Amino acid sequence: MTINNSTAKKLKDDFPIFKNNKNLVYLDNAATTQKPKVVIEKIKEFYENSNANASRGIYSLAEKATEEYEKARKIAADFIDASSEEIIFTKNATDSINSIAYSLESAIPNGRDEILLTEMEHHSNLIPWQQLAKRKNMKLRFIKIKSDFTLDMEDAKSKITEKTAIVSFVHVSNALGTLNDAKAIANLAKTKNAFSIIDATQSVPHMKVDVKNIDCDFLVFSSHKMLGPAGIGILYGKKELLEKIPPFSFGGGMIKSVSYENAEFAELPEKFEAGTQNIADASALGEAIRYLEKIGIENISSWEKQLLGYALEKLKKMKGVEIYNPGIENSSGIISFNIKGIHPHDAASLFDSFGIAVRAGHHCCMPLMKKLGLQGTIRISFYLYNAFEDIDKLIEAIKKIKEKFGK
Ligand SMILES: Cc1ncc(COP(=O)(O)O)c(C=O)c1O
Repeated sequence: MTINNSTAKKLKDDFPIFKNNKNLVYLDNAATTQKPKVVIEKIKEFYENSNANASRGIYSLAEKATEEYEKARKIAADFIDASSEEIIFTKNATDSINSIAYSLESAIPNGRDEILLTEMEHHSNLIPWQQLAKRKNMKLRFIKIKSDFTLDMEDAKSKITEKTAIVSFVHVSNALGTLNDAKAIANLAKTKNAFSIIDATQSVPHMKVDVKNIDCDFLVFSSHKMLGPAGIGILYGKKELLEKIPPFSFGGGMIKSVSYENAEFAELPEKFEAGTQNIADASALGEAIRYLEKIGIENISSWEKQLLGYALEKLKKMKGVEIYNPGIENSSGIISFNIKGIHPHDAASLFDSFGIAVRAGHHCCMPLMKKLGLQGTIRISFYLYNAFEDIDKLIEAIKKIKEKFGK
């Protein structure tokens, strides 16, 4: 289904939040997305019809719950071109990165003491590595960003060396919208035998991401940013690597056999899923992905590009608006900007008074903001249900905010 302005507006009908908040202009999709009725109903339906603990009981209801859970895993696997055993359910992207930072600890070869990140990482892809660096006495290095807000690939080439153990990088920056060349960076890591980890939290919901084509070792994302419920996330890992590295969480559900002294771990993916899992939300994530697939992820990407182009053009024409975005070719549907002389928090409260939800602040990227010399930014981020009118209302609101501040 191709999306245009009228179909985008029609899509809002699938989302009860827009019925219950008639004039809502929701431009904070990078923080979390709204949920379609089919996803909300899936959670209810699971608890009403299929609820039991998955992967344990041998009675029919337990088998039904297991079936729902594994069906969702297969849907998520197909969505990124992985196999089911390569998909580990976690709490969210943050949990996925923390988990892999623990599991990889024992797999780091001697003599490799550098972890390479970029200067545009979300705190969730920074602090877990800071902690690993402290535990293992390793050095953190950062690929620089250029003045046009793109990543400096020459710097990436020079910093990925025989000393690099891990290259972990954001695919789409939540603060700048920058779309990084995941395949090229993963390939640089591969040529130096370093592990590659992709924070795909802002890319998987918005564009076709194919782990086989990118050829990364690990990749993470969150359900709540792709129409699914909060509390469930994905850790993808290449099968041969997941088989080699130890699990990071231990207990029920992840074992083959146990003695008082020892335990043998289960096969993939159970090896990495200790304890009772978030079965209902996993199945609702499956439903969210089905909804996205019905519309077509490429159609969503191309609609967001149109929204991005429309918004950038309008914002660029406004005096006193400073934009921090690498341009339509290098960006996903996220724009950060400031209105000269107005604190982003003050602007955000005024946007709220016009019914417009935007994010303001450091966007969990404090080091990046400091590097750019900014207190924070105002951020707008699009999804399939946004329409040109949402952007028009934002532009009108900026005019009124400027007037109010005498700018
Ligand atoms: C780029 C990026 N990485 C990681 C995260 C963390 O996601 P979650 O809070 O779902 O774990 C976010 C959330 O905003 C993000 O934008």
